[in-house]
Amino acid sequence: MNFNDTEIVASIMKNSGWEIVATPEEATAVLLNTCSVRENAESRVIRRLKQYNHKFKKLNKRYIIGIIGCMAERFNQHLVDLENSVNVVIGPDEYRRMPALLDQALSGNKAVAVELSTVETYDDIIPLRTEGISAWLSIMRGCNNFCSYCVVPYTRGRERSRPMQSLIEETRQLFHKGFREVTLLGQNVNSYKDEETGSTFDILISKIAEISPLLRVRFTTSHPRDMSDKLIQAIAQYPNICKHIHLPVQSGSNRILKKMNRRYTVEHYLSIIDKIKSTIPNSAITTDIIAGYPSETEEDHQQTLELLKQVRFSGAFMFKYSPREGTRAFDEPDDVPEETKIRRLNEIINLQNSISKELNQLEKGRVLEVLVEAPSKKKQQEWMGRSSSNKVVIFPNPQGIYKTGDYVDVLIKKSTSATLFGEVVEKK
Ligand code: 5AD
Ligand code: SF4
Repeated sequence: MNFNDTEIVASIMKNSGWEIVATPEEATAVLLNTCSVRENAESRVIRRLKQYNHKFKKLNKRYIIGIIGCMAERFNQHLVDLENSVNVVIGPDEYRRMPALLDQALSGNKAVAVELSTVETYDDIIPLRTEGISAWLSIMRGCNNFCSYCVVPYTRGRERSRPMQSLIEETRQLFHKGFREVTLLGQNVNSYKDEETGSTFDILISKIAEISPLLRVRFTTSHPRDMSDKLIQAIAQYPNICKHIHLPVQSGSNRILKKMNRRYTVEHYLSIIDKIKSTIPNSAITTDIIAGYPSETEEDHQQTLELLKQVRFSGAFMFKYSPREGTRAFDEPDDVPEETKIRRLNEIINLQNSISKELNQLEKGRVLEVLVEAPSKKKQQEWMGRSSSNKVVIFPNPQGIYKTGDYVDVLIKKSTSATLFGEVVEKK
């Protein structure tokens, strides 16, 4: 979401006469788009801030440093008080005012704008997308779920959806410009609703998929509570809707899920998984897990490991619980000792990696349709692309026959927990 927000900001700035430069050395102003979801994300920003201050601001007093995004929202005025080097602080719903705020900073005044909106979707702003064939498309912003550990509802405000017609139009233009993959983004895409027609996410994604069979459609993130049967059917029905569902479960313990205010049980979650597996064969399901939520016992932790074994996710983002001020969980004692959190997280990671590895081994001998992306980082003669299930596939492309945006069928010969390797058997 922040990638896409950065493209929106770049577009706003460019339209008002600013230019994007390649390095901070050449810049008049540097804007850091930030995430507040865990403490380590914020600590990284503070470190970067100090670096920029040291490297650029000490040499040029007029150098402007801006903090934008969730950290701006969370710290508000405190950020300029706390870090003297910061000139502008702009929250996620204030990006339209950015040129004016930067002018204010240029004239020597600090600028802070952190008002949240109930309607802002930046609907009329075409993000300044860098080259490539994959585009991000924010279909909704904000979140109403208030999971007890999560800062997002406070930093990004209430849920609101972008109108369906303009999303379809923008995607059509993307396809005509050569984009071959679009990822529909939102904190909870399943609660998308078009105000005018009342259309829900399954309708939006179907209409986007109908733009062209050559356009791959992905989406993230879904909340298990709002995962509808209609959506599962739409994914099964359209070959170009990618067979990958990211469905954060967070914990395998009903007691912890309740405390997290997730509003589903493990049993309900498993029933959705069953539905997905039976309706969409060969689909990949990924998840998010938090280890060490307040009061988590060894038994709760074992239940999370059990759940991983039972579902066999293709992959997972796994985190240590990080207390966030202002959230409901922050009022609970952060009582799982740090070493225990680390140990539990490592157990989760090790188990999940071995499952990912086993699942990838099953891909050997299969032929997967891959959308060709770019040369692989490791070897010049090899290229990478992704399968519909979002697995990275590496294949030889010595004469550069296969170009970015081509679809190829790849026979998988080898695999690791993160990557598949194969040879092209057919170019489409
Ligand atoms: N601590 C650790 N992980 C968190 N997440 C959200 N808030 C926290 C927190 N306070 C994780 C959740 C969510 C993902 C985007 O980040 O797993 O799904
Ligand atoms: Fe945070 Fe929960 Fe909303 Fe996801 S659904 S953004 S975890 S509050």
